[in-house]
Amino acid sequence: MTAHRIVFANEKGGTGKSTTAVHVAIALAYQGAKVAAIDLDPRQRTLYRYLENRIETEKLRDIALPGARFSVYDGDDIGELDDLSEAIAEGYDFLIFDTPGRDDQFARHVAATADTLVTPLNDSFVDFDLIGQVENDTFRVKKLSFYAELMWETRKKRGLKTINEGRRELDWVVVRNRVQHVEAKNMRRLEGALKELSKRVGFRISPGLSERVIFRELFPSGLTLLDKGHLGELGTSHLVARQELRQLVAGLNLPMPDRREPQFELADEK
Ligand SMILES: Nc1ncnc2c1ncn2[C@@H]1O[C@H](COP(=O)(O)OP(=O)(O)OP(=O)(O)O)[C@@H](O)[C@H]1O
Ligand SMILES: [Mg+2]
Repeated sequence: MTAHRIVFANEKGGTGKSTTAVHVAIALAYQGAKVAAIDLDPRQRTLYRYLENRIETEKLRDIALPGARFSVYDGDDIGELDDLSEAIAEGYDFLIFDTPGRDDQFARHVAATADTLVTPLNDSFVDFDLIGQVENDTFRVKKLSFYAELMWETRKKRGLKTINEGRRELDWVVVRNRVQHVEAKNMRRLEGALKELSKRVGFRISPGLSERVIFRELFPSGLTLLDKGHLGELGTSHLVARQELRQLVAGLNLPMPDRREPQFELADEK
């Protein structure tokens, strides 16, 4: 059984790929899954450093938290990346890739081999352009982005493979990130455009995270909202945020392993 591959990708920077990737990885670990992760952005290394900080915090505070096995790929060879992917995910349930916010050959490669592709989008028309450009009034799609085209191609190829080799279907999920309260009329326009795009481009929309300061504050400690809850350090104002995170993970419809033993769930529910 090979690990289920979840790829976080969006060709634009700063949309929340690394933040959601780490939160999803740790949430799955809390549910008892074995999770591996590869950071494909050797310059920023956000996911890698986040998980390094996490280990540091565990040492400093003398605590053990559910975690992920992780690495960063900074080479220039697809075959080498495939070898690393196979080695790191050997015997694991999930392999998570965090990709850089730019067009990148390795990001394309892993997106094309994903089981679940997650694209976080900030809540604005500027970000929607990353999937496709829509006409102002009718929301008709004028032009597809490279990810959208890549996904079309991948699906076409997979379609043939599914028949021959039983390859899993690709599930492309767009999650809105940093959702804020915008004027109702504007919100309806945004939702209308996104829905139209989803029908034409073939992704589904799932709930994401709201704009919250805590997401910016967690990185140095390497902790996530679930850890804060587990450690009894989650303020009541953040309970809703944790609920959002759970909904985000549930919305990804991931195949959970049978043998999982959620060790931390009870403490987490406090
Ligand atoms: N829901 C949120 N609320 C508040 N801040 C957020 C949220 N999600 C992400 N951020 C902040 O926005 C910034 C960008 O997020 P992140 O690094 O996850 O994006 P990214 O898509 O990985 O960026 P890059 O393309 O540069 O890798 C970070 O400072 C992060 O803390
Ligand atoms: Mg990032």
